[in-house]
Amino acid sequence: MPDLFYLNSPFTVKSLSIKNRVVMPPMCQYQATDGMPNGWHFTHYVSRAVGGVGLIIVEMTNIAPNGRISPNCLGLWNDKQRDKFKSIVDAVHAQNAKIAIQIGHAGRKALGTDDVVAPTAIKYDGSNEAGDRWQYQMPRELSKDEIAELIQKYKESVQRAVEAGFDAIELHAAHGYLIHQFSSPKSNRRTDEYGQDRFLFGEQVIKAAKSVMPADMPLIVRISAQEYGEQGYDVEYGCQMAKRFASAGADILHVSGGGDGHLSASHTPLFHAGYQVYLARAVKQATQLPVIAVGMLEDHYLADFVLSSGDADLVAIGRGLLRDPYWVLHTPPSASLSPFIPTPYERAFD
Ligand SMILES: Cc1cc2nc3c(=O)[nH]c(=O)nc-3n(C[C@H](O)[C@H](O)[C@H](O)COP(=O)(O)O)c2cc1C
Repeated sequence: MPDLFYLNSPFTVKSLSIKNRVVMPPMCQYQATDGMPNGWHFTHYVSRAVGGVGLIIVEMTNIAPNGRISPNCLGLWNDKQRDKFKSIVDAVHAQNAKIAIQIGHAGRKALGTDDVVAPTAIKYDGSNEAGDRWQYQMPRELSKDEIAELIQKYKESVQRAVEAGFDAIELHAAHGYLIHQFSSPKSNRRTDEYGQDRFLFGEQVIKAAKSVMPADMPLIVRISAQEYGEQGYDVEYGCQMAKRFASAGADILHVSGGGDGHLSASHTPLFHAGYQVYLARAVKQATQLPVIAVGMLEDHYLADFVLSSGDADLVAIGRGLLRDPYWVLHTPPSASLSPFIPTPYERAFD
């Protein structure tokens, strides 16, 4: 049986050394009250660390209460939240895994709040993941002062994440949330500098984040490299955005797609195994930065192939890790797996 040599090999970016190439991507749990992590989050993240994941990225964690995609989403707008995160970070580190956190704001995709904001007052037309409980609302257009305040809030949340001991920060610039809303011609029709230069907001958030991060800590930026809806931007535009974010300070790009609204058959890839790898490949070629590929990669050999072909440096396994926290330990038997087996479990792998 072939060894999963690439999947099980270490990877380093700046001060972040990951023991293998497996990333748990951010996945909202909708289990928080007042933005505070609790026992569910502790068990959820620490069990993936026990299961051998190299880098865990905590779900979208919001810079302000009106940035949540539900009232049960996590936040980092106060120090009490920061202190709760620290216990998760320490427990993940005790399992020899690394942990990052995705910092974001939902903008016009916020649900369960009356203060919905966006670059432009255009309502989101996509399907509502919260079902009938909350409806998308017409957002109000952000003033320039409010944009400056939001950038400051991103910075403060990143600062708290650094204080909580996270190994890296991920900015959520994908899936139709606030930074993506600024980047997209569909949702940003402003006439000021934020509309004339749609990547400016993302660039300013990246620079603000970097200003409070240790110089050797990598910043991951998650992007939608292609929109999947009607009149969505294509991968060429996604690569221009990626280049701009790379020169602003992104160290790793986490390459996803869509989230911009109703899917359009002509813009959406078929949802097959590895369906977004072409985006990761294009962004890596355009920027020369390390990239994380994501999207139905839970076949171990497929994930290994994506790495061996050079299309990506890391692979994120989302729903596969929800189904199986021990996805890494369930790789086909191979000598290179042994470093990830917790010592008390070794006899099960004799
Ligand atoms: C329950 C759930 C919650 C998610 N929440 C987030 C999130 O907080 N931030 C984000 O960027 N993507 C989120 N995603 C998208 C995943 O990170 C990932 O990109 C997607 O599931 C595709 O990967 P997969 O095929 O391996 O599951 C979520 C996906 C799921 C299934």
